[in-house]
Parts: sequence; C-alpha cells; structure tokens
Amino acid sequence: MGNTFPAFAEPKLGDLVIKIAKACQQAGGRAFLVGGAVRDSLLGLAPQDADLEVYGLQPDVLEKVVAPFGKIHFVGQQFAVIHLATGFGDLEISLPRRESKTGPGHKGFSIQADPELNPEEASARRDFTVNSMLQDPITNEIVDPFSGQRDLKAGLLRHVSPAFSEDPLRVLRAARFVARFAWKVAPETVSLCWAQDLSELPVERFEKEWRGLLLRGSFPGLGLQCLAELGALRWFPELEALRGIPQDPVWHPEGDVFRHTCLCLNAGAHIRDEMEDPWVEMLGILCHDLGKAETTNFERGRWRSPNHDVVGGELSHALFKRLSHQEGIAPKVAALTRDHLRPTQYFFAPKVGDGAIRRLALRVDISALIRVAWSDAAGRDCSNMPQWKDWEPGRWLLNRAADLGVKDSAPQPFLLGRDLLELGLQPGPKIGKILNEAFELQLDGKLPDRESAQVWLAKKCAR
Ligand code: CTP
Repeated sequence: MGNTFPAFAEPKLGDLVIKIAKACQQAGGRAFLVGGAVRDSLLGLAPQDADLEVYGLQPDVLEKVVAPFGKIHFVGQQFAVIHLATGFGDLEISLPRRESKTGPGHKGFSIQADPELNPEEASARRDFTVNSMLQDPITNEIVDPFSGQRDLKAGLLRHVSPAFSEDPLRVLRAARFVARFAWKVAPETVSLCWAQDLSELPVERFEKEWRGLLLRGSFPGLGLQCLAELGALRWFPELEALRGIPQDPVWHPEGDVFRHTCLCLNAGAHIRDEMEDPWVEMLGILCHDLGKAETTNFERGRWRSPNHDVVGGELSHALFKRLSHQEGIAPKVAALTRDHLRPTQYFFAPKVGDGAIRRLALRVDISALIRVAWSDAAGRDCSNMPQWKDWEPGRWLLNRAADLGVKDSAPQPFLLGRDLLELGLQPGPKIGKILNEAFELQLDGKLPDRESAQVWLAKKCAR
C-alpha cells in the first residue's frame, strides 16, 4: 500500500481536491481526504466521490475559501458540512466535529463543529477503522490513528470506538462492506452490533444500505449472512424466518432456505450488469423463497413447500415495507416472487398453451423472471450452471415469448374503450366487461389481431 494520491474515477475531481486543499493551506488550515476515498484508493480502486475534512479554519472562513470552487450548499446540523456541486462527482467538505448522543433515535444527536480538534479525536467518531484514515492531498501523507491500514490488509471490519453505537445503522453498513469486499467482522464489533437497536431508524436510511448490499458488491449473499451474524435479522423477520427451514437435500444439498437465498444472491450478482432493473431483480431473488418459512412440511417422504410462491408474494410486500418506501417496486418484486417457479414448471410441463405464456408476460418481465429463476437454480453448491441465456428453461421460455411478440413487452389489448363508444355503447360497467372478454380471447389466441377483434365486437354489439 503506497502513499499515492487517489486515482479518482473522474480525474477532475482529484484536481479539484488538490486545489481546495491548497486554498485551505493558504488560509492557514489543513485539509484531509477522509472516509471511503482513502479506503478505496488503498485497495487500488478508483473513488467516485471525495470527502474532505478541514482542520484549523473557522466555519465562515472555510465557506469563503470554498465558495470560488463551485455552487455550495450546507447540509447537516449547524452547517458542519458543505456540499459542493462539481458536475463530476460528489464533494463534501466538513469541519471536524464532535457528535454526541443526547437522546434516543437517529435524531438524538448534538453536533459541534470544532476546528481545533485533532485528526485522532475527530476520527474516533467514525464507524470502522478502515474508514477512519485521513490523507493529506498535498503531501499524500496518511494519518491512521486507529490502525485502519492493518485492518484493511487483514480484511477486517473493526469499530473505532464505543461511539459506534451512536448510529445503529452502522450494523447494516458492516453488511454492505462485507457484500462488497468479503471482509470479516471483528468479534468485538460483532458483540457491539448485537446490542444495537435498529427499530428507530427511518426506512429511508435502510434503503441506502440495502441498495449498497444488493447492488454494489460481488457477494450480496455474504452481506445477508453477515446481517444474520450481527443479529440484525431481528429487524427483518421475514428473512430471519428462513433460517433453519429445511429443504429436500436431493434438490438443495446446500442446506436450509436461508443459505440457499444467500447463494442465489451471489449468483444474481454475477449477472447483475445484464439486469434491466437490478434493484427489482435482486429484491426478487432475495424474496423468492420467503414463503417457504410458512409452507414447509415433511410430507410423503420429503420436505415440501406447497404454494410457497404465492405466500412468498405476500411476504415480499411485508419485507419491502421495511426496506424502502419507493413507489411501484413492491408489486414488481411480488410478481417475480409469485412466478419464480414458472420457467422450470412450464419447461418441464408436457404442454403449455400460448395463453399461459402471454398471461405470464402480462404479470412479469419475462427476461427478469428468467434471471431470477436462473439465480434460484444456480443457488446451490452442486450447480454447474450455464449462463442464464443458455440455461435451457430460460432459453425455451425466451423463444416462446419472442414467437408470441411478448419477450420485451406485455401484450396490449387490441380493443379499447373508444372502439366501443364509437359503436354507440353508453359508458358504464358493460364496456369493461366486454373489453375484458375480448382481452381474454386475445390472450388465448382466439382473436389474433385487431381486425378480428373488431369483427368480434361488431357481432357482439349487433346481438
Ligand atoms: N461514516 C460513519 N458512520 C456512518 C456513515 C458514515 O462513520 N453511519 C463515515 C465513515 O468514515 C465513512 C464516511 O463517513 O467512510 C463516508 O460515508 P459514506 O459516504 O456513507 O460511505 P463510504 O465509506 O464513503 O463508502 P461508499 O464508498 O460505499 O460510499
């Protein structure tokens, strides 16, 4: 690990960091890069964003020093953080600050900017040692008061100080870093995580960490496993319930449903770049077997989970509410969960009518469903899986969907309300009924195009 200036993904951001550091120096202060940029750069990765911490300057002086470099706005309590809109990556500039807990909850903090703090004092409030290092952008000196470099080499997440507990969200942050870097969590940090109460955290803060866990790393399954090891699944009971749920060892030699889900997430991460909406699809993988917790029984000589797809669809709504308030996502995740068995079921069925394929395309995006089903099939230790596009059930379903023109979009009804109004029908529930009937016939292939649908409608209205 050499002390070189970070190779930012956007070099202009690095140039700006150096310019601002020099301006701070001229004003009598000292700026340090802190947090993820130092960590990622030491790992040989290109940081996307930069956080600067400036020592020895009063807030009003810092504002004047930074103002010429871009449009600034203040974030956080007491204006301790300045966000600089650069157009090429986020740059946050803050004063060293003391944060202390004044009451329960994520808002029970008092923040005091204190330019006279030293780096060791200021870094004591950071989450993990690997995130507590500072780097002088002018000299490239690394200040490492809590042995972050040692832990980085060992791949170990270790909390910096008891102040870790002031933000319980850090439990989820740990899992997100594990998902990204496959690190271990130090035993003393594991104990501290178990003592955290996540119940007061707003869902918005969960979402950011869950997005990081599912979307950023190659090992989201390790991240999920880590949440279990840190005692955090208490706050996500639908996932906790999967632990220890048995599966038929012939089909699932990997173990229980929770372990299977972790392996499926890792498989999904391999094809995430090909996902249309990775947030929806990774959530679909996370949720696909939620229903097994409620439906698994030992019947007729083996473990079975009848109807787990349907029950899982319901449970996915409950889990999603704990992760995010984003509109429009939960129904898509529930649909993927409900239909995750369809690609293999249909492939192995003796005959599947066109109507079934069209109706499936109406409920879910076919390619997304195949990726979720492929991840399900790939999520076991014994698998020797082809690529998702070469996986036979997926290829077969994609071809069927392509032949029917529903590979990339859901079937659209040939007839609309205005067709009926033009024939003189009065607005009312009867219109809806006729449209539904026409659409069902269309999905069954009995009305192959708009013309035949119009002929059918004319006859119907003449009766
Ligand atoms: N930090 C913290 N506790 C938190 C959030 C952030 O101590 N709850 C500190 C850490 O030192 C972290 C830095 O603030 O490194 C910046 O936080 P953030 O930008 O959220 O994460 P990064 O570590 O930069 O990681 P990423 O690259 O994933 O954004």
